[in-house]
Amino acid sequence: MLHLDLIVQWYREHAADLRRARDEQRELRAQRPMHAKLDDLEAEITYLMVRALRPATVVEIGAFHGWSTTWLLRALRDNGCGTLHTYDRADHVTRTVPAALADGRWRFVPGDVRRAELPDTPGFVLVDAAHTAGFARWYTGTLFSVLRPGAGVAVHDVFHGRRPWPRSEGAVVLGWLRRHGIGHLTASRAADPDTRDRLLGLKRKLRLAAPVGPAGRDPMLFFRMP
Ligand SMILES: C[S@@+](CC[C@H](N)C(=O)[O-])C[C@H]1O[C@@H](n2cnc3c(N)ncnc32)[C@H](O)[C@@H]1O
Repeated sequence: MLHLDLIVQWYREHAADLRRARDEQRELRAQRPMHAKLDDLEAEITYLMVRALRPATVVEIGAFHGWSTTWLLRALRDNGCGTLHTYDRADHVTRTVPAALADGRWRFVPGDVRRAELPDTPGFVLVDAAHTAGFARWYTGTLFSVLRPGAGVAVHDVFHGRRPWPRSEGAVVLGWLRRHGIGHLTASRAADPDTRDRLLGLKRKLRLAAPVGPAGRDPMLFFRMP
């Protein structure tokens, strides 16, 4: 189970690197205007999970202009190891990811991910693509079911409200987690305002509060395979 105390510990442990990554991401956004979909808490928890879990292989489904991609690549760079495999139908991301960040650690696969070959045992997976129940049934069945113990997962757009709508992507993911007895964490304003408030307070103390990405409601869901 991914506990809030662990996220707090990771914020403290990696505060200096995270501060640098935040500055670089702010600079990137200023230089290469991009539609960014993850807000700061979501991007930072993603960065911290990759730092802490040190996956050799990361899979990203849905990059758009590369906001989540560049956060993931900074975490791998700061770990000093690991490769990111990004899947997207569109190739905008190939024009926004800086070469210095991509070199030696990034593979972009264009096209529908459902027809692509995926790495066998990713240690971290980020999903932010088609927000439909059908797509969620595909990735829970194909990808989540073969994840090894300890692997980390982030799924965007689950908790826009206190609960996902019935028959939505989020409902399929929560159903899959329930059937496998796996707990989750979210900092969603609607679904877990206490977690969100605690992390925002911590960020103020650590001087990590100035905005970097878009303002958001933190609908992302995170979990770790038992
Ligand atoms: C919400 S955007 C991703 C935003 C990005 N993660 C960020 O941080 O800004 C969703 C992306 O998923 C891609 N996508 C949707 N369905 C897909 C599929 N079946 N295979 C590959 N990519 C897909 C779209 O092309 C789009 O770029």
